[in-house]
Amino acid sequence: MTTKNILLLAGDGIGPEVMAEAGRVIQWFSGRGDVEFDTSEALVGGCCYDAHDVAVTDETVERAKAADAVILGAVGGPKWDGVDFSVRPEAGLLRLRKDLELFANLRPAICFEALADASSLKREIVEGLDIMIVRELTGGLYFGEPRGITDLGNGQRRGINTQIYDTFEIERVAEVAFDLARKRSKRVTSVEKRNVMESGLLWNEEVSRVHKQSYSDVELDHMLADNCGMQLVRNPKQFDVIVTDNMFGDMLSDVASMLTGSLGMLPSASLGAADKAGKRLALYEPVHGSAPDIAGQGVANPIATILSFGMALRYSFDMAAEADLLDKAVQTALAEGCRTADIAVAGDKVLSTSEMGSAIISQLEALSA
Ligand code: IPM
Ligand code: MG
Repeated sequence: MTTKNILLLAGDGIGPEVMAEAGRVIQWFSGRGDVEFDTSEALVGGCCYDAHDVAVTDETVERAKAADAVILGAVGGPKWDGVDFSVRPEAGLLRLRKDLELFANLRPAICFEALADASSLKREIVEGLDIMIVRELTGGLYFGEPRGITDLGNGQRRGINTQIYDTFEIERVAEVAFDLARKRSKRVTSVEKRNVMESGLLWNEEVSRVHKQSYSDVELDHMLADNCGMQLVRNPKQFDVIVTDNMFGDMLSDVASMLTGSLGMLPSASLGAADKAGKRLALYEPVHGSAPDIAGQGVANPIATILSFGMALRYSFDMAAEADLLDKAVQTALAEGCRTADIAVAGDKVLSTSEMGSAIISQLEALSA
């Protein structure tokens, strides 16, 4: 039996509620095959700020580096609106991404057959959708210097953020996208704004170079980011893998989420470079936020967090069969009509967060019996 250490960072808002269900699923898988999962918990986000005046502690960052995988719930909420940027809840998540060098953020948008009618788009547009957004996660506007708000002294203030990309940052995330495409439909769309931004032009040129040098068996297209937003809602099935920068990836993945029925459905994996043994630092989290409006009510959809653990099975633990089983359990629960409020349509019986967790665990039992 090998033991894998998973650090659970539930965070704020609905984070602890959805994490509790992921925790039950982790326990279900623990010790079934030859892998045992040992979980521990720590604070991140607003709850950490309340306790320690920072959004994540040095100790937690070290524990995250040492863990075999980290699973995060969500951070933030109106309670911390006035808090300084450097210590606000989101800063905890950004520091984890940066300090662990998790440069490749994988955001799959899959439309489950049972949910095709829950999308804001027509069934025929989203049915069978399976795309992967690869978002650069440790560079660009989120981290570029100079940044800040300065007082110009004449009654005016100036807000500055800087979009910066170096060759190596574009190259390594492009490689992740091309490698993924090779295991899928072998098509990559690279997205930027080369028509107005030098960093977009560089992005375009570097992705083309990597393609030409090492991945000519994969089909590569380039698309401007505004057009990509439009194409995602017009004809999303034209895409296979989309690779884009930090800011565009943030926006386009929220758009893509609505194709799948709900933001409550989308998991993500944030991966670092592989070391000599092939091990990558990794953090898994739902794409959705802390949803303070519904926090504490037990109504949030835990599927995105549960599927995030599924991505950990696939990308950190090399347990593809178990990941497939979990995907299947979610799919079957949905097919049998299990719905949390966000994916329910009129007339559906609405399940609570923990009832959805139980429904998925029942399916795991049934499928593995
Ligand atoms: C996301 C979120 C984060 C981001 C926030 C919470 C900092 O929106 O992961 O998409 O902007 O990256
Ligand atoms: Mg976002």
